[in-house]
Amino acid sequence: MKGNYRMKSQEKQMADRIILTGDRPTGPLHLGHYVGSLRGRVGLQHQHKQFIMIADAQALTDNAENPEKVRKNILEVALDYLAVGIDPTITTIFIQSLVPELAELTMYYLNLVTVARLQRNPTIKEEIIQRGFESSIPAGFLMYPVSQAADITAFKADLVPVGDDQLPMIEQTNEIVRSFNRIYNCSVLVEPKALLSSVPRLPGTDGKGKMSKSLGNVISLCDSVADVTKKIKTMYTDPKHLRVEDSGNVEGNPVFAYLDAFDPDKVALEAMKDHYKRGGLGDVVVKKRLLEVLLAELNPIRAHREQFAKDPAQVMRILKEGTEVARKVASQTLKEVRKAMKIDYF
Ligand code: TRP
Repeated sequence: MKGNYRMKSQEKQMADRIILTGDRPTGPLHLGHYVGSLRGRVGLQHQHKQFIMIADAQALTDNAENPEKVRKNILEVALDYLAVGIDPTITTIFIQSLVPELAELTMYYLNLVTVARLQRNPTIKEEIIQRGFESSIPAGFLMYPVSQAADITAFKADLVPVGDDQLPMIEQTNEIVRSFNRIYNCSVLVEPKALLSSVPRLPGTDGKGKMSKSLGNVISLCDSVADVTKKIKTMYTDPKHLRVEDSGNVEGNPVFAYLDAFDPDKVALEAMKDHYKRGGLGDVVVKKRLLEVLLAELNPIRAHREQFAKDPAQVMRILKEGTEVARKVASQTLKEVRKAMKIDYF
């Protein structure tokens, strides 16, 4: 199994859980997605019932004026899933907006959440600043954590493999679940747990914060060998490590953060870190190792992707079939929700 999760020792007890996770289709997926969640899902799909959602409706909450971008990236994200080894015969892959039950659930959950609580969500707060929404926040954007609660609970998911930026969403989902079950005196909704990657979040190639497409500091899963080579060559390292003989900093150095995430030879990596800290090891050598390790991981993914990309109609069929399955599950939950809320009239 490729994924490495903190909860590994508990995994036996956790067999046959329901997993739901998703990604916004705003661009091809990158190494940050891969390390944070994607890599783990490949292993998880064999032990649990896994649903993976392409969150187009959520992507539209801050891309209302870019529907083309969202549409185009549905296929890109689906190709990334298939390329890394998500198997559509055991994982249900679906498109969020084509499961309208999720929108209806969102509508009911919104009554259980205050505007003040939404404004306190730390991820939303950060994203509002990043997107320059301070003076006018789209209402749909502010409430997307509620829609995310609908995504998770519609499938009665108990595990959500995500990056740590999504923890506030899980927390908010749990508050909604507890309110709902209490107010409607039922146990229809299930409280989910986050499943965090054991590898810390990857910094961008510029060493500034997280990898993010809008910051232009990403290595995408579908980048060509030439692109990856160029990005690593120009990657930020320790700015004080000017000459080979200088001692260098490993902390806060993205080259080493990536090696930590990808180099399978941990012993050699520790030796390399010591050498770098002592001085006498140049960035060129360290970057050469990183390139080698990364290409070993990315080359097969790219080859798979090219294979699937030859038949986009087949990929869209996979999404259509997955969406049909997802809709059945979500509409069953919605039925129970409506009954608990006493709005099951006929
Ligand atoms: N917010 C997630 C992201 O930006 C995507 C997402 C939407 C999601 N709905 C979800 C993740 C439900 C987990 C569960 O990556």
